[in-house]
Amino acid sequence: MTTRSLFLLPGDGIGPEAMAEVRKLIAHINEKEDAGFVTDEGLVGGSAYDAHGQAISEEDMAKAMAADAVLFGAVGGPKWDGVPYEVRPEAGLLRLRKDMALFANLRPAICYPALAASSSLKPEVVEGLDILIVRELTGGVYFGEPKEIVDLGNGQKRGIDTQVYDTFEIERIAGVAFELARTRGNKVCSMEKHNVMKSGVLWKEVVAATHAAKYSDVELTHMLADAGGMQLVRWPKQFDVIVTDNLFGDMLSDVAAMLTGSLGMLPSASLGAPDPVTGKRKALYEPVHGSAPDIAGQGIANPIAMIASFAMCLRYSFGMIAEADRLEKAISTVLDKGLRTGDIMSDGCTRVTTSEMGDAVLEAYAAG
Ligand code: NAD
Ligand code: IPM
Ligand code: MN
Repeated sequence: MTTRSLFLLPGDGIGPEAMAEVRKLIAHINEKEDAGFVTDEGLVGGSAYDAHGQAISEEDMAKAMAADAVLFGAVGGPKWDGVPYEVRPEAGLLRLRKDMALFANLRPAICYPALAASSSLKPEVVEGLDILIVRELTGGVYFGEPKEIVDLGNGQKRGIDTQVYDTFEIERIAGVAFELARTRGNKVCSMEKHNVMKSGVLWKEVVAATHAAKYSDVELTHMLADAGGMQLVRWPKQFDVIVTDNLFGDMLSDVAAMLTGSLGMLPSASLGAPDPVTGKRKALYEPVHGSAPDIAGQGIANPIAMIASFAMCLRYSFGMIAEADRLEKAISTVLDKGLRTGDIMSDGCTRVTTSEMGDAVLEAYAAG
């Protein structure tokens, strides 16, 4: 029988609460569909720091590198506000992204019909929304050097972060965006700030050249990233695929989250390059939201972003397309029935806990 290895890193705050719902689904799919998932589990973020003073141990790092896919919950929280910068919880996630070379972060923002009224925007603005943000994940200001605080010796300090992009990094993320666009609405909008940033000038130039060389069948537009943020809330349905850098992608995807009703709805896939021999790519799946310290430990977090991230895992790492479609349909069915966690609650709906929401999705999946 095929075995499929999954390495689970639940993390902190609501991460473990959301991951518990995915564990139920893994057990069900193994039992009913003989999927052969073999799971192992590690520590990341504050929980790893508490256990061994690092945001992720070398042993868990090695397990993540070896697994077919990593499922990641969330990290961080006020408990670790004072820990040294190098070992803060978020450093564990950044190390996973960098060492696994997960350069392509796919963040789909889909507004399920039942949630059109939950968005802070007018229903007609978000109804039927289906956009994909392709965020570059291993470069830019997140990783550029120098990155430091320098003591200037006159009572002043200087904080430095460096935005750097090389041609190959822009080419490969643009390639991912164009390929994905061909499977959907065939449109890509590239966002940068070439009006103030040299890296933005290069970004725009390389995206245009990649388009001309290999993807001229796809419609390409360019937009300044600040205007892009404005257009995302003005009329988001004008977009199909958005390709952008690490920092702009981080901010624009949180904006996009609110179009879908809640940050608790947005999944993501972080993918590496396919291995030239086996064709397999390293991958990590995580919700876009964080550890939500304000609601952690209460059992009320929305697990849908985590469950939908697992659906992306079925699709992208294991080619289990029918199962992924079924799981996404199960989410839609449960929302149609009016079940809601607090973050997406509206009049006339039934408020459920994290685990009730997970159970309902599992039941709909099993029936579907
Ligand atoms: P957050 O995403 O944790 O929370 C923002 C708001 O959204 C909160 O009000 C929270 O209650 C709500 N929310 C988020 N996810 C939810 C869910 N599934 N269900 C219901 N409500 C949800 O962002 P933050 O408060 O800015 O950050 C908290 C911590 O998380 C910080 O330490 C930050 O660095 C970290 N963080 C981690 C990740 C990650 O692990 N991938 C992502 C973002 C932030
Ligand atoms: C995200 C998060 C991370 C990021 C943090 C936790 C490092 O905000 O995945 O969106 O900034 O990329
Ligand atoms: Mn973010």
